[in-house]
Amino acid sequence: MYAAIETSFDETGIAICDPEGRMAASLLASQVERHKPYGGCVPELAARTHLSDLPQMWRQLPPELVQQVTHLGVTSGPGLPGCLLAGVNFARGVARALRVPLFGLNHLAGHVFSAFIPENSDYRVVTIPYPHLALLVSGGHTELFLVKSLTAMELLGQTRDDAVGELLDKISALLGYGYPGGAVLELKAREYPDISDDARYRGEFKLPVPMRDSGDLNFSYSGLKTAVLREIRRGDLASDTVIDAGQHPSLLAALFSVVAESLWIKVAAALEQYPAELVTVSGGVAINGFIRARFAAEGRARGLEVRFPQPRHCLDNAEMIAWLLKLYVEANVAPVPFDAHSNWNPGL
Ligand code: KG4
Ligand code: ZN
Repeated sequence: MYAAIETSFDETGIAICDPEGRMAASLLASQVERHKPYGGCVPELAARTHLSDLPQMWRQLPPELVQQVTHLGVTSGPGLPGCLLAGVNFARGVARALRVPLFGLNHLAGHVFSAFIPENSDYRVVTIPYPHLALLVSGGHTELFLVKSLTAMELLGQTRDDAVGELLDKISALLGYGYPGGAVLELKAREYPDISDDARYRGEFKLPVPMRDSGDLNFSYSGLKTAVLREIRRGDLASDTVIDAGQHPSLLAALFSVVAESLWIKVAAALEQYPAELVTVSGGVAINGFIRARFAAEGRARGLEVRFPQPRHCLDNAEMIAWLLKLYVEANVAPVPFDAHSNWNPGL
């Protein structure tokens, strides 16, 4: 059995999977409610919450399952330093007590390979094709990787400023829908009828597609945030008058449409340079139905396989880390000494 601990940001997760990748146990304590009053994650509060939640959660695991654990993995980066330390130190104690090897695993690789976690009811041996492209879109990340093997990911492009999820969370705060914003903005946007099945918007709001002509594989979302703000303030950033709430669905449908477009054009450009037969889209923003629809339609049109993790594996969770550990052990990757590494980008 492979056990894993995830504490890189504001979710405390523990999961155990069997050698075939079936999840035998999975615990997740979300801190969203705790951070809500502050409008975002407070690092110090997150770290302290992990410290108190981890031992309590570990005690909830069935003892007979814990006895069968042969390997332990912990997210050792990237993430908030105090949060990572809480997980890594706890994991060191557990590994010593259980006398099992401890692996420091990369959170971004966890997201990227989460697209291959089989459904429990649909278990089969998964063959991961290499190389393939992986787009990771979350609250802290917007990155495009060429995945060459389980342990080699080349960073092809990343955001120059805000992450996509960060853009959505900021717009949600501006419109008064609270934190985190992605899911509630999607629900609002669904009220607007004139958006096609592949997320093409027809309506009054004209938003720019960021980085369309940048000539590279990078992303940028701060300009789009300003463009949305200008629409909210009816063309005048300094103005106090704002559009009425009845127009939010149309504006948000326009926003998701250009976000989906901006993500797809970079993947399409990458496919020209690095022909691949598979693209994965993972991370919290990959739950989004507009982005899924656009990518699925593009995939169908080109005979390209597009894979998304199940929605519950998109947000931070420990199952994706347990699954990554399973893949590592299967591939005979040996554990190496490690420390918490808050800036650990696997593609650099
Ligand atoms: O992967 P994740 O839990 O956090 C990071 O590792 O950063 O992703 C959280 C992000 C938030 O920005 C949230 O607004 C966004 O995922 N999100 C969504 C949706 N559900 C969550 N974005 C778009 N559409 C959704 N349905
Ligand atoms: Zn994450």
